Amino acid sequence: MSLTNRDLVTIDDLSNEEMEALFCLADEMADSTDAQYGLCRGKIMATLFFEPSTRTRLSFEAAMLRLGGSVISTVDVGATSLAKGESIADMAKVVGSYADIIVIRHPWEGAAKVVADYAGIPVINAGDGGHEHPTQTLCDLYTIRKERQTLKGLRIALWGDLKHGRTIHSLIYALARLGASILFCPGSGLELPEHVMRRLNTEYRGELKKCGHLNHGPDRKLFPIDAMYITPTSHHQLAMLPDISLNVELQAGVDALYVTRLQKERQAPTTDPQERKKYPVVDKELLKGKEFEKTLVMHPLPRVDELAYEIDSDPRSKYFKQAAHGIPVRMALTAMLLGARVVSISSKYPSFAHKVEYPIYRRHSGVRCSNLNCVSNQETETKYIKPEFTIVSDEPLTLRCIYCQHELYPEYVASSDWHQGTLEHKKYHSARSRWTKKIRPENLIVFASEDEARAWQSGNGACTKE
Ligand code: CP
Repeated sequence: MSLTNRDLVTIDDLSNEEMEALFCLADEMADSTDAQYGLCRGKIMATLFFEPSTRTRLSFEAAMLRLGGSVISTVDVGATSLAKGESIADMAKVVGSYADIIVIRHPWEGAAKVVADYAGIPVINAGDGGHEHPTQTLCDLYTIRKERQTLKGLRIALWGDLKHGRTIHSLIYALARLGASILFCPGSGLELPEHVMRRLNTEYRGELKKCGHLNHGPDRKLFPIDAMYITPTSHHQLAMLPDISLNVELQAGVDALYVTRLQKERQAPTTDPQERKKYPVVDKELLKGKEFEKTLVMHPLPRVDELAYEIDSDPRSKYFKQAAHGIPVRMALTAMLLGARVVSISSKYPSFAHKVEYPIYRRHSGVRCSNLNCVSNQETETKYIKPEFTIVSDEPLTLRCIYCQHELYPEYVASSDWHQGTLEHKKYHSARSRWTKKIRPENLIVFASEDEARAWQSGNGACTKE
């Protein structure tokens, strides 16, 4: 299995088999760390961290040094020429000519994809805004696999800020693909974003069950489950699961409780002093519940108040081990992307994901990604990034940004194939009208507003194809 010259921008850049190969190599590297010295001799890793980090940056740098390579690093956007208005694409091209591999953390969603598009060398996403953090997911899966040998059929509870947590988003897709069931335990107002939920529903063959009623029982005050996602246990089983009882499911126990902090940096500051107190806490009392008897307690760290220090010595607590696994996992990933190691594995790993090839929407018009934090909406980047979407549904018409995966629902559409003889055929329609479904994806034009649609109809609008 070779990953030479590949990028890791989202967790879906790796197949289940590739992840397993990487974990096998991480096992080998954990057992013989010193013997790996020299594997990446002469290679340079550039670590570009434009948001704070302890674990990800230092474990990547330590991993590269343990492989015998070197590291160049910047940790402050103000100390780079980005502060002078340089675009991410230009920075990527330049750093790509100085180093052999780039690890980037950036607050804008989709920034790592842009770096990967322009650098010309392997790029690893170390966290892009609230989008994804795929190498944290590799550490998380590696930890569970080490403790439980498999992911398939396990019940994993995700706790806290499911809305903004990038580690959560990458982990969800991987768990669904690997055949785990997911229990969602969000803080109030911190439920999973709609676009992540939709992807789970449409691309991962499982079944999502809302279970708000469980919140009202005395036990559920402690374990506030909002929804549950059941992955089918066999590859060909579609969403035909019997209506399961969530209580029965819970009695079987929770295999891992994945706790996350409130991502304060991704939301408007609250003026309500009670807000922080409402955030759910995992402590000794919660872990007395029968369903947690054999639960692995995990956290990507850093923690703030959501995970009590009193459970650090509990044998179920695995979060510091999880952070330590960052070294062998990132050593294995770096060595594979640089082509210093290939790995063969004997078994085949089915994926429970349903790979969908959606048509692309790429046309000059006023339509932009709905996410203001998307890289495609930033002033320095709009000079060269043209908004691009996949058309993921025609009812309602839904476009998904290729940079940040946020979705938008255009109001007005037209077909570029209007010229059937007369100008009177040049018409725009409501996106909810029956006409929308009749427009072939390659002819689709979507408008940001009715004014833009009118301008197009009267011959003044641009809306040209890329
Ligand atoms: N888990 C994680 O990404 O930690 P850092 O922010 O310290 O890198």
